[in-house]
Amino acid sequence: MSHDSDNTTDAVRLTAVHKVYGKRDNQVVALDGVTTRFGRGTFTAIMGPSGSGKSTLLQCAAGLDQPTSGSVLLEDHELSELDETELTKLRRDRIGFVFQAFNLLPVLTVRQNVTLPLRLAGRKPARGRVTSVLEQVGLAERSRHRPAELSGGQQQRVAIARALITEPAVIFADEPTGALDTGTARGVLGLLRHSARTAGQTIVMVTHDPVAASYADRVVFLADGRLVGELHSPTAAAVAERMTRLGAFADDVPLPSSATVAGGRR
Ligand SMILES: Nc1ncnc2c1ncn2[C@@H]1O[C@H](COP(=O)(O)OP(=O)(O)O)[C@@H](O)[C@H]1O
Ligand SMILES: [Mg+2]
Repeated sequence: MSHDSDNTTDAVRLTAVHKVYGKRDNQVVALDGVTTRFGRGTFTAIMGPSGSGKSTLLQCAAGLDQPTSGSVLLEDHELSELDETELTKLRRDRIGFVFQAFNLLPVLTVRQNVTLPLRLAGRKPARGRVTSVLEQVGLAERSRHRPAELSGGQQQRVAIARALITEPAVIFADEPTGALDTGTARGVLGLLRHSARTAGQTIVMVTHDPVAASYADRVVFLADGRLVGELHSPTAAAVAERMTRLGAFADDVPLPSSATVAGGRR
């Protein structure tokens, strides 16, 4: 592809990212040399067996956790070069988060939850902007309700509106549909895909659900902290088949090819 070397098309770029938890005799290598990129306006799903490093990858890419080594470039910012204040500002202004547990504040209304990131940043929410984001997630009629008065799917849509309100470059979502039933999950996934297509948001989503992954433009597969493959324009069936193979690899013998790669790198 002609623009492969043009980093202006990348919202996030990871190069040789390693993450090791724990001290000397008790180390866990959560990420073992991950190199990948997330293009602007693209929707990527990250999949892999439990413990393969998905959440760690998301947290390192989002500046919530620091790689042991390697580089994370978010837009033009090398995260390792930012101090804590700059990182906090970058996360606040350029990054949105959506978690499995919606993390809404129960005492605040829908509108207050959505505008919270702006108010924390000392910015005044533009009335039209808040309404248009609430319309985008289908909750304009619920703006004065509190989270407990909403269904799970509606609460997750509030969380997505809260992520969208600052017009971030990237939204990181860790199992955003993990607590939702299938029908409700579809609405949330359609919304994420829509915001990538229309608002140019870059979406990076961890999921273990092949149907959820099929909403993405691309799926990257992790096993034992390494990227072991990817699918473009994935179907749920193709994703499920790949996951089944990864599951088998993880349970039986180590992947010969990735073991070689790891040996060469370290
Ligand atoms: N804070 C931590 N301290 C020690 N080990 C951790 C920590 N977070 C994750 N790990 C380990 O790193 C590996 C990857 O974890 P994680 O990224 O949560 O995987 P996933 O999200 O794919 O299930 C696992 O072996 C996990 O036990
Ligand atoms: Mg996880």
